Amino acid sequence: GGKGRVARGATRLSALSSETTTGVKRNPNLAKLGAGYLFPEIGRRRREHQEKNPDAKIISLGIGDTTEPIPKVITDALQGAAAGLNTKEGYSGYGAEQGMGGLREKLADRFYGGLGIGSDEVFVSDGSKCDISRMLMLFGADTSIAVQDPAYPAYVDSSVIMGATGTLNEETSQYKNIVYMDCLKENGFFPDLSKVGKTDLIFFCNPNNPTGACASREQLQALVDFAKRNGSIIVYDAAYAIYIEDGSPKSIYEIEGADECCIETCSFSKYAGFTGVRLGWTVVPNKLKFSDGTPVNRDWNRIMTTCFNGASNIVQAGGLACVTDDGFDAMMGLVTYYKENCKLIRECFTEMGFEVYGGVNAPYVWVGFEGRPSWDVFAEILEKCDLVTTPGSGFGPSGEGFVRVSAFGNRADVEEAIMRLKDVYGK
Ligand code: MLT
Repeated sequence: GGKGRVARGATRLSALSSETTTGVKRNPNLAKLGAGYLFPEIGRRRREHQEKNPDAKIISLGIGDTTEPIPKVITDALQGAAAGLNTKEGYSGYGAEQGMGGLREKLADRFYGGLGIGSDEVFVSDGSKCDISRMLMLFGADTSIAVQDPAYPAYVDSSVIMGATGTLNEETSQYKNIVYMDCLKENGFFPDLSKVGKTDLIFFCNPNNPTGACASREQLQALVDFAKRNGSIIVYDAAYAIYIEDGSPKSIYEIEGADECCIETCSFSKYAGFTGVRLGWTVVPNKLKFSDGTPVNRDWNRIMTTCFNGASNIVQAGGLACVTDDGFDAMMGLVTYYKENCKLIRECFTEMGFEVYGGVNAPYVWVGFEGRPSWDVFAEILEKCDLVTTPGSGFGPSGEGFVRVSAFGNRADVEEAIMRLKDVYGK
């Protein structure tokens, strides 16, 4: 019958696949990865839910993906650059691997004005995530690493792939040779540095993804002092800095001594809705040196010229529009829009009696579910509300018991999501 046919087919397929292997050994570092990358895994569960419930109108407040149109002052520049490629004067081929000189200057002025950062220290790229992977290439496998726990998964996963870690301990959900800096509600989501061992690199995302916590000037000074004492380099991910509203530093270079121990990476993804357009930058100060005295900037330049051919010329024209006064005001308009979502999401969970963190200086709201496993809560919210969130434990073991609710969404969807949540959890 039909069953038998399926079984025979499956046998044939597995015999075939074993016949067609190459002699190439799988990269053992990839084999160390415990699961698929977090967001595709969430996408898979969403599709499964949709297949089971074809009529469900699923709303995603899961992956932090922007939804609102890019402001016209920026798309005009993108369009102009694209149209220009059709003309003799407007055409350009390969550009500088480090980015257009004019854009590097404007980025330095706009985001680091008065902080002593020069345009030769700013490298334009296709985004922070790609720069993070290339940073692992810069430092190599023989590098020890500390991360905030919970943290954006790219730091750990890229380190694993590079071979800088040991295997995953299934019991603790931690990789060997990574120092996990607990960021818990008990410590205000800022690590107790007196308990953190010395490592070469410290990945630090501020404002934090996923907790939405934002470190104060004093905390950042303590972090920089800690790194300097240990001879460490901080990789400071400022992807959400534009969301800071309480006067906390927006760049690590506002902190004394940071130019001797910090790389900062940032992006237009969450500033200008460039998640699909792709444009970011990384600052590597000239003062930052390896133990042998080699400037890190020189090696980063070598990595970028080898692994990258420069960000798209069209997109860099868009970036130039982002850093004009009009472009910047337009970006702030987007930030204000998503912040209103933050407020609505925060109010919703607070009214229902949940523990609520973040969502003030960051576009993520971090909601506690009384110690329930994050993946169970994620599944329940998907099942009962047709709403995608992100399980806190997906960001590291200390995220257990929380889910992250992203404020990147259309207002009508956010309002609908809130109604559905209140129906189920409002009592
Ligand atoms: C997130 O949801 O954490 C971010 O969108 C992921 C990213 O920026 O790559």
